Amino acid sequence: MTFSREIIKHLRNAESICVLTGAGISAESGVPTFRGEEGLWKKFRPEELANFQAFIRNPDLVWEWYAYRRKLIHEVKPNLGHHALVELERRVPDFTLVTQNVDNLHSRAGSKNVVELHGNIERSYCIECRKSASEVQIESTHEAPRCDSCGGLIRPDVVWFGEMLPVGMFARAEAAARRCQVFLSIGTSSVVYPAASLPFSALEQGAYVVEVNREETDLTSRAHETLLGNSGEILPQLLSSL
Ligand code: OAD
Repeated sequence: MTFSREIIKHLRNAESICVLTGAGISAESGVPTFRGEEGLWKKFRPEELANFQAFIRNPDLVWEWYAYRRKLIHEVKPNLGHHALVELERRVPDFTLVTQNVDNLHSRAGSKNVVELHGNIERSYCIECRKSASEVQIESTHEAPRCDSCGGLIRPDVVWFGEMLPVGMFARAEAAARRCQVFLSIGTSSVVYPAASLPFSALEQGAYVVEVNREETDLTSRAHETLLGNSGEILPQLLSSL
């Protein structure tokens, strides 16, 4: 792929870059996305699994679903797209990677300043006393484990439908979007708010906004550029063009 002069110039000169990623960046590692033909929500109804009431009604079913996803994530590796973002972080003084993914693949790749907007599937905690669960408890595959301090149910530390984002996380993400000179939106369908508002905050403050996606999204008409294709191919090429 050849890149425009603008994007190369903006990326070379930027002292502050904010990146927002979604499930698409992990697709080439083998983690299913949420929407689209192969999406997770096509097979499972979110209201049955990814909300607090569903968990209280059927903790074992919800736990088992997350245990299945955790196992899948443990079996895959970060891809060239994740690695390209590690390299980009090394080159820029102020770099923030905001992710909607709970798969921990950015940190496993080596990214440092990661803002996890929707939590992290590697962590769990007690719904009663909020104590973090031990690894042994998290490894339970069929039954939702119980807290060893108070006996409360242990839940995954991810944001469910209808829940607030972790305290302070969105504020950090928004501050990064507002101060950056280049904003990259990668592999997200741009439909889940408040994450989807971040590129618009960046645009308002004059940032150069670039989208990387296999298809057009609600952001496409507002972004300065959309690079259509796989992030695992486009991002390494972009880095080597700088
Ligand atoms: P989606 O599944 O909604 O969107 C994935 C996007 O990635 C789509 O726009 C695809 O076109 C694109 N895509 C797929 N493969 C790609 C590739 N190899 N390279 C580039 N792009 C690719 O996932 P998200 O936008 O992350 O929230 O979904 C946002 C939130 O919705 C999730 O964090 C989750 C879900 O409800 C919670 O669980 C709170």
